[in-house]
Amino acid sequence: MAMNEAQISTVPRRVTVLGSTGSVGCSTVDLLLRDQDSFTVEALTAGSNVALLLKQALALRPAFVALADPAGRDELEAGLAGTGIQFAVGPQAVIEAAERPADWVMAAIVGAAGLSPTLAAIRRGAIVAIANKECLVCAGDLVMAETQRSGATLLPVDSEHSAIYQVFDFDRRDGIERITLTASGGPFREADLMRMRQVTPAEAVAHPNWDMGAKISVDSATMMNKGLELIEAHYLFALPESRIDVLVHPQSVIHSMVSYIDGSVLAQLGTPDMRTPIAYALGWPRRIATPAARLDLAALSRLTFEQPDPQRFPALRLARAALQSGGGAPTILNAANEVAVQHFLDRRIGFLDIADIVEETLSDIDGGRMTSLAEILELDRRSRERASNLVERCVAR
Ligand SMILES: NC(=O)c1ccc[n+]([C@@H]2O[C@H](COP(=O)([O-])OP(=O)(O)OC[C@H]3O[C@@H](n4cnc5c(N)ncnc54)[C@H](OP(=O)(O)O)[C@@H]3O)[C@@H](O)[C@H]2O)c1
Repeated sequence: MAMNEAQISTVPRRVTVLGSTGSVGCSTVDLLLRDQDSFTVEALTAGSNVALLLKQALALRPAFVALADPAGRDELEAGLAGTGIQFAVGPQAVIEAAERPADWVMAAIVGAAGLSPTLAAIRRGAIVAIANKECLVCAGDLVMAETQRSGATLLPVDSEHSAIYQVFDFDRRDGIERITLTASGGPFREADLMRMRQVTPAEAVAHPNWDMGAKISVDSATMMNKGLELIEAHYLFALPESRIDVLVHPQSVIHSMVSYIDGSVLAQLGTPDMRTPIAYALGWPRRIATPAARLDLAALSRLTFEQPDPQRFPALRLARAALQSGGGAPTILNAANEVAVQHFLDRRIGFLDIADIVEETLSDIDGGRMTSLAEILELDRRSRERASNLVERCVAR
């Protein structure tokens, strides 16, 4: 996590938001709109939501906007007519947005679709705020090697990793014993397996504490999200899986903790509002103000903790095993999970089928050692194909 002094001191900071129309993207745009003297916008990108991308572009006046879905081209062109804002469509346009000269890039595309754009920002040595945990899960070795090579700075955006980053003594790592990722436990923390078998997509995306995109909400409900975060933490903090704990903390107030060898435990606390970790990355190394609700511990009165249940939440075990296996296993895990979650959201498979499909894909596909982006993308493709076949078998049953 190198620091580039020139980038740090640039005011206003020039920023790009990849995935600006999503949940993290909108929170980032909200912060940018509140402080237009401190930030100028180089580029915004979306998948297919032209209407929201146009609204954001007209408010923030970026130099460039990109839309991954070429079908929205005419609408985008009409909406930008006379503004002087350049635009392009297609997946390559999103990469082009990441390559443009912003000091700071928010990587908030969901899924492995964010890998190539995020890598493009890393490769030119930008400060990259990583929300897109899937790109670290499916290509962690490559992402970290490219970060090292280019001198880019990676800043975590996940609230848990942001918390750890804020209390992790990078200069004296030998003092660190372990880290603990806290987990809300999701909407089915107390549900039995019978109930979990019947949950609907609407129930799964209704997270008790956080307002997030559909995919991460389902991941939180299966606890695969914590599994992905475990792999993300392994890469961001260079710790083995055995030194990363997961603890269920339903109030989501303690965002995560670092345990030191003298018995001290340092944590970062706050109300569950993504604008706090996003602001930490956006202003870094300075602090910037946010309207997030302030923590009132007396009103909360108690914080509770419990161990995750491996029987009802097998996804966490699968992610740990994939990290232990190494090589392409996390790539397979991530791809199969993305496929299964989408089919669950489309009401084609049940909630408990998600982890089964991930587990079977992992046992069917041999990952091997991944060294290049091309190899990773090919493994991702093969894993998606296998997971899709397993979904069809599941649907036919
Ligand atoms: N939401 C949270 O509170 C939260 C917290 C921590 C970490 N994260 C992580 O942050 C990432 C984003 O999550 P989110 O909840 O913000 O997701 P989201 O609401 O679903 O937004 C995803 C963004 O990615 C864009 N997108 C989707 N597919 C794309 C593609 N193929 N090519 C280019 N852009 C594409 C979407 O565009 P459209 O709007 O046009 O579809 C949208 O801008 C995920 O990796 C998630 O795990 C999220």
